[in-house]
Order: sequence, then C-alpha cells, then structure tokens
Amino acid sequence: MNRIDLDGRNAIVTGAAKGIGYAAAERFLDSGAKVSLWDFNREALDNAAERLAAKGEVQAVHVDCGDEDAVAAAMRETADRFPAIDILIANAGVAGIVKPAWEYTMDDWHHLMRNDLTSVFLCCRAVVPGMIERGYGRIVIVSSIAGMEGAPGNGAYAAAKGGAITYAKTLGKELAKTGVMVNCSAPSGIDTPLLGDITPEYMETVTSKMPIGRLGTAEEVAAQIAWLASEECSFSTGAVYDTSGGRAVY
Ligand SMILES: NC(=O)c1ccc[n+]([C@@H]2O[C@H](COP(=O)([O-])OP(=O)(O)OC[C@H]3O[C@@H](n4cnc5c(N)ncnc54)[C@H](O)[C@@H]3O)[C@@H](O)[C@H]2O)c1
Repeated sequence: MNRIDLDGRNAIVTGAAKGIGYAAAERFLDSGAKVSLWDFNREALDNAAERLAAKGEVQAVHVDCGDEDAVAAAMRETADRFPAIDILIANAGVAGIVKPAWEYTMDDWHHLMRNDLTSVFLCCRAVVPGMIERGYGRIVIVSSIAGMEGAPGNGAYAAAKGGAITYAKTLGKELAKTGVMVNCSAPSGIDTPLLGDITPEYMETVTSKMPIGRLGTAEEVAAQIAWLASEECSFSTGAVYDTSGGRAVY
C-alpha cells in the first residue's frame, strides 16, 4: 500500500461502520489522519470504532445522516473533539429497492432520497463553512455508476445517486477558488455488506456489465478516496472518478 500523506488531518467518514466507509477510515488512519466515524447502525459503529482504535485516534458518532437535526448535533459532537475538519467522505447510503420505476411508492422514493441524497447535502452543508474559513478542505461524495448511467429496475437509487453527482459538480465549481476540492467516486459492484440487500438476479445484471469480470473490494475504492482526500488532489474538483472494473464508458 502506498502511504498517502494525511498527517495531522481530521476527517469525517459517514457510513464508516461497514464496507467502503470502514475501508476508507482504516486507510486514513494508516495515512496519519484522525477520523470521526459517523453511522446510524450503533452496534456496527461501536464494533468498527473498537477495531479501528488500534490504528489511531477515532471517535464514534451515532447519527442518521438523512436527519437535519441529527447531523447538526453530530457536527457539534465532532467539533468538540476535532475543531477543524479537513476531510469529509459523504459515503453513507442504502441499497436500492428493485422494482419498475413507475411502481415506487412515496415511502420507497423518500427512503432512497433521504439516505442517498439528502444525507450528502446535510453533511456537506455541515462542514463547508469551516473549510472555507480555513481555506482548505477535501470532500469526496460516494455516488455510484447508477447515477451516471441510470439503472433499470433501480430508479430511485439511480436518481438519488445522479443527484449526488450533480451536487458534487455544483459544489466543486462553487468552491473552486476557496481551497476546498469536491469530487465524486462512482463505484460499481463492490463486495460489501450492501450487496446482501440486493437480489441475486440484480447482482447478475451488475456483474455482467463489468468487463474486469469480478467484484471490486472496499479497499480498492478506499485507495482512490484516499488520494482524492489528500492535499495532492489540488487541481481536480467537481469531477467524477469511476471504480467500476471497466464498466464506465465516460
Ligand atoms: N457496494 C457497491 O457495490 C456500491 C456500488 C456503488 C455505490 N456504492 C455506494 O457506496 C456507499 C457505501 O456503500 P457500501 O457498499 O460500503 O455499503 P454498506 O452497507 O457496506 O455500508 C454503508 C454504511 O452506511 C451506513 N448508513 C446508511 N445510511 C445511513 C444514514 N442515513 N446515516 C448514517 N449511516 C448510514 C450503514 O449503516 C452502513 O454502515 C453507498 O453510498 C453506496 O450506495 C456501493
């Protein structure tokens, strides 16, 4: 593993209890950062914090990132421990609900929007003013290839993830002169607990589109995120980076 230099940096990683968020937090700790782990699964969060504490300084914050008041409270709790946040990985998200786009109920739709898009907005809004004030920040929003291509049978997820991409592009452009870089990671078919919520038929559709012929690992996505979160990522903002095993064509 290359060691990305994150010495002295303070990071928030949302959805850090499992999967890509956990791998990103681990990589950050190995790279010298201190990490505030945000997740709404308390048991998994406490387990993750216990394991990650062996690698460096972590804080576990129990928060539903789709809830405005909860995110504000989480930000206050985090600021008590880490007053200056340099890095936000807006990664928390839930799997899609597989059904035809016109059959979604309002509850289905809101569930995806809240967890996969509103959470991105609320967490970015919580950290951006401090980053602007200090003239430095790195934000990585974890979207999905579904947000670039659309995803037949997974419409609300694709719409939420597409929204996250255009939000990252917008924020990146708005903040381009402030020292705050905002980029997007767009994975496809990563072997994490999230895949347990996906039907085997839908999974087959996903893997059949990936020329590399295998699932990616959370660590492979974390490697990309670590660079996007580093000081070296200084001339790239509002951009989307795929980790899709050759699936993305643009
Ligand atoms: N695994 C894949 O194939 C894949 C592909 C494309 C995109 N993604 C995206 O990557 C991100 C991470 O996914 P993963 O595969 O690691 O999933 P995962 O299920 O392994 O981990 C997601 C974590 O986010 C947490 N979480 C979800 N909603 C939350 C909320 N509202 N508030 C706080 N915590 C919340 C969960 O408790 C969980 O710990 C997600 O945004 C997902 O959509 C994953």
